[in-house]
Amino acid sequence: MIKKVCGNTLYFDGCNTVELAKKYGTPLYVVSETDILEKCQEFRDCFLNKYPNTRVAYASKAFLPLAMARLMDREGMCLDCVSGGEIYTAKMAGFPAERIEFNGNNKSPKEIEEAVAFGVGRIIIDSETELPIIEEICKEKGKIMNVLYRVTPGIAADTHDHMVTGKKDSKFGIDLEPETIFPAIEAAINSQYVNFLGFHFHVGSGIYQNEPYLDSLEIVLDLVKAVKEKYNYDIKELNVGGGFAITFVKNEQRPPYKYFLDPIMERIEKFSADLGIERPSVVIEPGKGIVGEAGITLYTIGSIKEIKNVRKYVAVDGGMTDNIRTELYGAVYEGVVANKMDQPADDLVTICGRCCESGDIVIYDIPIATPERGDIFCVYSTGGYNYSMSSNYNKVVDAPVVLVKEGRDELIVKRQTYDELIQGEIIPDSLK
Ligand code: LLP
Repeated sequence: MIKKVCGNTLYFDGCNTVELAKKYGTPLYVVSETDILEKCQEFRDCFLNKYPNTRVAYASKAFLPLAMARLMDREGMCLDCVSGGEIYTAKMAGFPAERIEFNGNNKSPKEIEEAVAFGVGRIIIDSETELPIIEEICKEKGKIMNVLYRVTPGIAADTHDHMVTGKKDSKFGIDLEPETIFPAIEAAINSQYVNFLGFHFHVGSGIYQNEPYLDSLEIVLDLVKAVKEKYNYDIKELNVGGGFAITFVKNEQRPPYKYFLDPIMERIEKFSADLGIERPSVVIEPGKGIVGEAGITLYTIGSIKEIKNVRKYVAVDGGMTDNIRTELYGAVYEGVVANKMDQPADDLVTICGRCCESGDIVIYDIPIATPERGDIFCVYSTGGYNYSMSSNYNKVVDAPVVLVKEGRDELIVKRQTYDELIQGEIIPDSLK
């Protein structure tokens, strides 16, 4: 349990959160190494150590400062990268290229060239127009690239529509229409510059049920069978994506990851035996599932505005610039006044951000200890897609990130300065 209360104060992975806020200022992201290690251990126990020839590719888009890339390397994870910037970050952190997969629906030729030159382990092709670009670059560099095709099985998952990625009407993946997918497969099988490994799909993010994975898998296994029958070609790798739900609020606990992974592996193993092929390597791509619950965000409470019989707004010194998810997806969080943990949480308030947007709300209608200006407010489960989706809207500087572990706190991202905020900006001669 990384959250503890001592007296009136919240502790997180052994660190006094009020002291952290004083030491580093707020807003402040705090990430628990202990929790990340526990999640990695859960994936080892229920997947990597239980089923041979499997890999976990951490979805870098969730949170990838240099230190996180180091931590994933040390934990023996692979990385799912979706941009030249994520690959560059991994490279600068010393992450081994062969454990990187390059994904994304519109990779630029420059990014593909960087990926091939760096020697990433595989490229997940998202459209049939991508293969010729990869072949051209591999030919130039005298390399052969492992590739998979991302396909869209057309299964809608029960999550926010902006986070459903495996449905038919999706910008992601190659369509499974026979006149599209089979020529693409033939081109990959016959290419002298790529080694065609298999298929990838990703149903969406924040998925609580295993059905969308199993329904999508059935469709992809039909394709594996068709490839065997049409081309006598055995698929060597299946990537079932990520999206496993995390716990944001107490009354909606996430299922254990084995709830998703056991039925997926059992199905793939039975299918492989029935078809008479070696069970393909299986890859999963958790993002939030590794880092989501490991993060909290600390704010200082500022203005408090009570509108009689309407609402009590409690403003914090951050908001949509460090956590866009409430506004973007209607995300629901839990939070506490970190210096009043011994007081009853019976004051119903709305935690609002400091940006000039009415939608800049962090948490609607949450009961907390009666707040006062200067109190420290902590939001739970902000490890995924908060820092990585942060912005400088209203010219608010990026918040720092502190990595904590059993009472130790280490800065892994500095607070941005005003000079850094404008360093890329130029006043042209015409305006001087
Ligand atoms: N693999 C692929 C191909 C993905 O596109 C994603 C996320 C993942 C894995 C990891 O999904 P996760 O395990 O983190 O749910 N911005 C949204 C999440 C969008 C995720 C997009 N793709 C949010 O803040 O919840």
